[in-house]
Amino acid sequence: MIAFKTLYQFIAENQADFPYAKGDLSRLLRDLALAGKIISREVNKAGITDILGEAGSENVQGESQKKLDIYANEQFMSTLLGSGDVCVIVSEENEEPVFLNDERSRDAKYIIAMDPLDGSSNIDVNSAVGTIFSIFRRQKDDAAPTLDEILQEGRNQVAAGYIIYGSSTMLVYTTGNGVNGFTLDPTIGEFCLSHPNMKIPEDGTIYSVNEGNYIYFPRGVKDYIKYCQVYDPNTKRPYNSRYAGSMIAEIHRSMLKGGIYMYPASWDHKEGKIRLMYECNPLAFIIEQANGKASTGKERILDMKPTGIHQRIPVMIGSKNMVEKAEELIRLAE
Ligand code: AHG
Ligand code: MN
Ligand code: MN
Ligand code: MN
Repeated sequence: MIAFKTLYQFIAENQADFPYAKGDLSRLLRDLALAGKIISREVNKAGITDILGEAGSENVQGESQKKLDIYANEQFMSTLLGSGDVCVIVSEENEEPVFLNDERSRDAKYIIAMDPLDGSSNIDVNSAVGTIFSIFRRQKDDAAPTLDEILQEGRNQVAAGYIIYGSSTMLVYTTGNGVNGFTLDPTIGEFCLSHPNMKIPEDGTIYSVNEGNYIYFPRGVKDYIKYCQVYDPNTKRPYNSRYAGSMIAEIHRSMLKGGIYMYPASWDHKEGKIRLMYECNPLAFIIEQANGKASTGKERILDMKPTGIHQRIPVMIGSKNMVEKAEELIRLAE
């Protein structure tokens, strides 16, 4: 008999990780996993049901929404708000924060920011997509949280994670005490511990950036891309280039093999493209917990005070030495 541990067993055994009340954060992680299983089911049968393609609407960022963007958003909203543990959710697909509007909100301790479906342009072509979530604990517990309480620095996160719907479905999360990965066994419907105590290699040989935008990038970023392409057997260069167009797929690959994911500011995306609260913060928390580094190219992502729920920032996330080299070349080009 093969011994395995389910996510629920693991959460129960590790409740001491949570510095606050025990049961509610565990319940929240279980709710996220449950919604993730439902999305996984829909993603897996996407080609044979009427859930592929455009929904015909746009989100606040002006991106056309896929049917699965909306489906995933509604699934997470109803599961999380239904639990009574979450008082407000910030989502890529909602212009404004969505509040729990009933008498339970006074006792609801958690604030969630999430990207219900990341890499959604990949859905129609059967490539990996994901869900990214960031969990904060309320600082006060009187009235509904104010915008200022929602806009917390990423370093205040109490937990964060992602679910990748790839050739298998995996849930990876941290509560600030290391990172653990669980693979969904669809035959029993359980996430099982498959990647305990994940650590990203300090060095890597893969860089991921949309090089089609090269001419728009700032000097320092161009210098780093050229650095990656130079022949130097001592540092295993030239590096390999990989770009799926799905941040979650690049970050997950980097977690396992080492690498750097970049989405810099550019002429056409002056602030960058990736959103601080529900894409960068949770992935930065996970990467740091795995010994990697997450930066804008100039500063630590987790120290940024968000100015708006959909704020975009430039990102460089991955193996520590690769991110530090990129930062060095950006500094030199200033
Ligand atoms: P989303 O699907 O949640 O809107 O995010 C897409 C993001 C990210 O996942 C990806 O790395 C990036 O957009 C790709 O952008 P480009 O097509 O501009 O490279
Ligand atoms: Mn989108
Ligand atoms: Mn995204
Ligand atoms: Mn998305």
